[in-house]
Amino acid sequence: MTQRKILVTSALPYANGEIHLGHLLEYIQTDIWVRFQKMQGHECHFVCADDAHGTPIMLKASELGITPEELIASVSERHQADFKEFSIGFSQYYSTHSEENKEISAGIYNKLNKAGFIKKRTISQAFDPLKQMFLPDRFIRGECPKCGAADQYGDNCEVCGATYSPTELKNAKSAISGAMPIAKDSEHYFFDLPQFEVQLKEWTNAGHLQDEISNKLAEWFDQGLQQWDISRDAPYFGFQIPGVKGKYFYVWLDAPIGYMASFKKLCTEQGIDFDEYFNKDSKTELYHFIGKDIVYFHSLFWPAMLMGSNHRTPTAVFAHGFLTVNGEKMSKSRGTFIQARTYLENLNPECLRYYYAYKLNNKIDDIDLNLEDFKQRVNSDLVGKVVNIASRSAGFIVKKFNKTLSAYSIEGDLYNEFVAKGDDIARLYEMRQYNQAMREIMKLADKANRYIDEHKPWQLVKEAGCEAQVHDVTSLAINLFRVLMTYLKPVLPVMAEQAEHFLNIDTLAWNDLKHPLTKHEINTFKPLMSRIEDDQISAVIEASKQTTQAVKEEDNMIQIDDFTKIDLRIAKIVKANVVEGADKLLQLTLDIGEENTRNVFAGIKAYYNPEDLEGRLTVMVANLAPRKMKFGVSEGMVLAAGNGKSLHLLSPDSGAQVGMKIS
Ligand code: MSP
Ligand code: ZN
Repeated sequence: MTQRKILVTSALPYANGEIHLGHLLEYIQTDIWVRFQKMQGHECHFVCADDAHGTPIMLKASELGITPEELIASVSERHQADFKEFSIGFSQYYSTHSEENKEISAGIYNKLNKAGFIKKRTISQAFDPLKQMFLPDRFIRGECPKCGAADQYGDNCEVCGATYSPTELKNAKSAISGAMPIAKDSEHYFFDLPQFEVQLKEWTNAGHLQDEISNKLAEWFDQGLQQWDISRDAPYFGFQIPGVKGKYFYVWLDAPIGYMASFKKLCTEQGIDFDEYFNKDSKTELYHFIGKDIVYFHSLFWPAMLMGSNHRTPTAVFAHGFLTVNGEKMSKSRGTFIQARTYLENLNPECLRYYYAYKLNNKIDDIDLNLEDFKQRVNSDLVGKVVNIASRSAGFIVKKFNKTLSAYSIEGDLYNEFVAKGDDIARLYEMRQYNQAMREIMKLADKANRYIDEHKPWQLVKEAGCEAQVHDVTSLAINLFRVLMTYLKPVLPVMAEQAEHFLNIDTLAWNDLKHPLTKHEINTFKPLMSRIEDDQISAVIEASKQTTQAVKEEDNMIQIDDFTKIDLRIAKIVKANVVEGADKLLQLTLDIGEENTRNVFAGIKAYYNPEDLEGRLTVMVANLAPRKMKFGVSEGMVLAAGNGKSLHLLSPDSGAQVGMKIS
């Protein structure tokens, strides 16, 4: 077998939000593939980074009162902690806001510019006159020009689905300052994509893309390629365009270059030859795993940028579909918008890795995480089938046979059958048909369990003269477990490591399977995985609802008009009486000026003597609708502060007079 040299990437997550289970579909898919390639003995590097530039990150930082650098540093730490716990084994995790990226981006831009692929043209765009900045479409809100729905984005309506330009929005407002945007001219830099049409058409049909994607591209070619706007005006968090003051690269220009920059960093650290991987005639392989939403960038802009700057193009772009939870788009109110951290606080990361593998294929259909199915699948496949093989056999070996496997030979066929499946399973991994790989592996697990059931070592052990047979049966079972755990190792790296310890071997390796473990000492068995319980799942859902409490609080905000509806007045307590038969109430007669008096029942008896109240000023709600109570009609409310233990009526500063309005 020749050793391949492979560079693999996952899309770079934006540095303004947390990693969630949708993202993880991609990182887990990629990580499984990388671990598989490494197990096949190939040189395989896996790089990623935070996508740190752009307006949303700049604005988020300013909202938090920190610099963008501080924001991306703290997000990066959390992203990496999440990835680590999910065993995403990046060779390098970097940031697009790095020296390497700045240099490579400038280099590529300069080459494209020299070759005549960069064009300049003045365009008119929405500008926030208060914030003094151009507004990306997403930061303009207004009424849909087609259906009139309020509060729609600048480029499309979520109600009727119409797409339009921000200038068509009615009553448009800047989402940042609330000001009405004005149109303003500015010179922009464009990447001249149409010059690559012929080359791109050829490339996109040369087997680098999935069929569904090639079809989608045919549509885009029919619509005609457009020049791509790659510049943004200050203020912007990004790299300045070389030699052009006040203009920056649009985040999507330097984001894919961030793949190269992250790899460059790895090359420097580990002495890998960067050029060997990115030279125009490179013999190495380059793969990008991405979601279906960013296909345009990876199958048109990115290959064209590479072509135009005299680099190699990707060997393949692997797109996947979107994650749904319980059959629906992830939802904050249903508690199915689940962050990686929330999952980790309640569940074993390997369970999600297995379930995603069980669902993933090489198509771009959406993938559903049905939480009930997830629980049952993990419990039945991993706990009930795979782990069970070891747990029901290990005890015999440890207790009866001095921890040592037999020199068995009788049941060789079954072992060989398991090993023979290895090529099929490897092919399925290579093709990213993990779902089928998992089904093949589970079929074998069923076989192994059936073998144990049929030979009943727990009965044999009671029969005279069957000792050797018990030894062989349980030894074979342990060996079958070893084969299965080897096949599952790309998906379950942590469990595989525990199995390596149990089996007392250095590593579970595909190539070692030809030889079963015989006369080999193992360690005592410790449970490798526990069942998922319902309450773990409901805890995740509950916590995900809480994570988004802030969203609900925003819904609770009132506007100034809501507040001014309340008629608050200075009132004088002219009379205070105990109410016969009521243990909490005092009856107050309040003077609110202009010879207006109000009768109010207040639950303050426990805190005040009626006599002490007479004559003092306080604050009342004067326009509260009268309420009929057991002891009479209450015509308002007095305001008091309290914590359940004590209570304090509000009083105005000296000088305030009866009847004054509060605002
Ligand atoms: N920053 C860009 C990618 C730049 S690559 C040069 C971006 N970031 S992202 O954070 O929005 O998404 C990162 C990856 O996660 C993308 O491939 C995206 O498709 C994927 N997913 C984000 N949400 C997802 C789901 N709900 N389901 C599946 N994948 C999802 O795009
Ligand atoms: Zn509309």
